[in-house]
Amino acid sequence: NWKMNQSIKSSIDFVKENYNDLLELTKKSSIIICPSFPAIPFVLQEIQKSDLDIGGQTCSPFEQGPYTGQVSASMLSEAGCSFCIVGHSEQRAFLKQNDDDVSLQAEQIFKEKLIPILCIGETLKERNEKKVKKIIEKQLLGICNFLKKTKNTESPICIAYEPVWAIGTGKIASNKEIEEAIEFIDTFLKKYKIKNYALMYGGSINSSNVKKIKKIKKIDGFLIGNASLDFQELKKIVLS
Ligand code: 13P
Repeated sequence: NWKMNQSIKSSIDFVKENYNDLLELTKKSSIIICPSFPAIPFVLQEIQKSDLDIGGQTCSPFEQGPYTGQVSASMLSEAGCSFCIVGHSEQRAFLKQNDDDVSLQAEQIFKEKLIPILCIGETLKERNEKKVKKIIEKQLLGICNFLKKTKNTESPICIAYEPVWAIGTGKIASNKEIEEAIEFIDTFLKKYKIKNYALMYGGSINSSNVKKIKKIKKIDGFLIGNASLDFQELKKIVLS
């Protein structure tokens, strides 16, 4: 997740300069790059023949219409994205998105047959108040109900557990904290008979701490912010 960090030029340079290495990395792991909206077509042009995937960083909760500044899931699909992040804590915090908004966005993403990367996780205050499970449940509920109601429990979905206090702070959650959250998410999804899901962790992942987190059996992948801007770091993370 490059967030609003790379310019269009530095996004293109990143994939151009590291193209062969990126191809090697895709043999080890699925790699999804989430550039800024304007960089998406340029990045896609560079990686057309590769197994790399592109994702949007968010999308509109609406399908189409007079919503200035919004980008629809169908536009992302048309642009060539196959994934879309939804419910990122930065969106929840800065744009005051609530769980209903996030569910509507996810519905649009499913409708376009893109794969949502749903971000969930508690703030430090919520953790200190022992509300982690309650928050996770609240953040999963709308989407799980939608999938159940529409009989879409086979639709692929990625769930990224990103404790808000670990994002961009250099403070990573402990294995015990991640395990407890991931276990809870896994059980919750199973209760809703959601079948096709990947569980990820995000928050201050880098090449020095990733090995430890990879020991958690139920973690399928990582949502990486800062460390994904440095190709050598990204490479070490994938190869660790
Ligand atoms: P950092 O890896 O910079 O903490 O960001 C995590 C994140 O928000 C990924 O979506």
